[in-house]
Amino acid sequence: MIILGLETSCDETAASILEVENERVKVLSSIISSQIELHAKWGGVVPNLAAREHLKNILPVIETALKKAKKKPTDLDLIAVTNGPGLIPALLIGTTTAKTLSYLWRVPLIGIHHIEGHIYANFISHTRNKVCAISNFQFPISNKIPNSNTQNLKQIKRCKNFKLEFPILCLVVSGGHTQLVLMKKHLDYEIIGETVDDAVGEAYDKVARILNLGYPGGPAVAKLADSYAGERKFKITLPRPMLKSANFNFSFSGLKTAVLYATKKNPENLKNADYLSEMCQEFQTAVTDVLVAKTICAAKKYAPKTILLAGGVSANVYLRKRLELSVKENLENTACLVPELVYSMDNAAMIAMAGYYRWKNASNEDKKSLGKSWESLETSASLRM
Ligand code: KG4
Ligand code: ZN
Repeated sequence: MIILGLETSCDETAASILEVENERVKVLSSIISSQIELHAKWGGVVPNLAAREHLKNILPVIETALKKAKKKPTDLDLIAVTNGPGLIPALLIGTTTAKTLSYLWRVPLIGIHHIEGHIYANFISHTRNKVCAISNFQFPISNKIPNSNTQNLKQIKRCKNFKLEFPILCLVVSGGHTQLVLMKKHLDYEIIGETVDDAVGEAYDKVARILNLGYPGGPAVAKLADSYAGERKFKITLPRPMLKSANFNFSFSGLKTAVLYATKKNPENLKNADYLSEMCQEFQTAVTDVLVAKTICAAKKYAPKTILLAGGVSANVYLRKRLELSVKENLENTACLVPELVYSMDNAAMIAMAGYYRWKNASNEDKKSLGKSWESLETSASLRM
């Protein structure tokens, strides 16, 4: 079947054409129009500006996706669109466009939770038997990995012909969410832990703002952290919040405040490149220590067959490697899967992929009503999975 995916929940206007034949997935096109430059001036996403940009770009992006995939509207079997959570003015551009096209083209329409999309980004790679692509990234010696070294990292092999088996434990890390989600089967989600304050991507973005590193903050902090091989002469130590708590919840707001207080004490350090790099490295290590330790702890309790990483922060190479390494070291017979980098950040192929599984699991009656869901599809900033 041929699916058109649409995503406009934040600052990317994205459309994708996905082909699924006998469980084999082909991304025929995945077009993303990014608004990073527009929002960088403001240090974060401005919802109304985002909506105006989505409105300008959505039809050209869809047209380009169809053209690149060499498909026509009459080839489509399904439209899948993000209908929450996210910024309401931004989401509404995607859902209104999707409803209009579903009505005009007589194609069934399905609403997808944004985080469900991020989780299913992993299934794009899996069904093409091309997963766990590990880059040749080398950690600087000073960036010590607990119980490990760079030699161990080299030994992690590419996982070929990987089997994605349930139960699955998903570590969801994005700009708006940090959750541990247990999936016993497709489309079945139990949130076993989540952040009690800031999401991990949000913490990266706020720390970048404190350190004047610009927007988006995550990649900027990660770049400084990963590139620093110098001596840790400032001896910065940040807390590992809730590392030892008796549940699977997270907290990142205090970590960000610790960075703020440390820099307020000596503001001149903000002009020191070594200080900035050391701070970024300590922050990234602290965040990763907590994320990885809690995931392993949850896995020991729930015994998943697969651990998945999902959400924009899954683009963080240090986190990808630490998680893969830790799973390998601590959990026998548990596989660790990370999405291909192109599907880590917001994109529409992941929305189409989740749409496929929702369609496949729908009853004939449900399928019939999806043909008319342009009448009833709701858009919600706080949609629950
Ligand atoms: O999933 P996503 O694209 O949007 C949301 O659904 O929120 O995630 C965006 C978040 C931002 O906070 C961004 O700073 C963070 O992901 N991010 C990163 C990296 N790349 C993106 N954080 C850490 N390291 C990265 N390499
Ligand atoms: Zn996202």
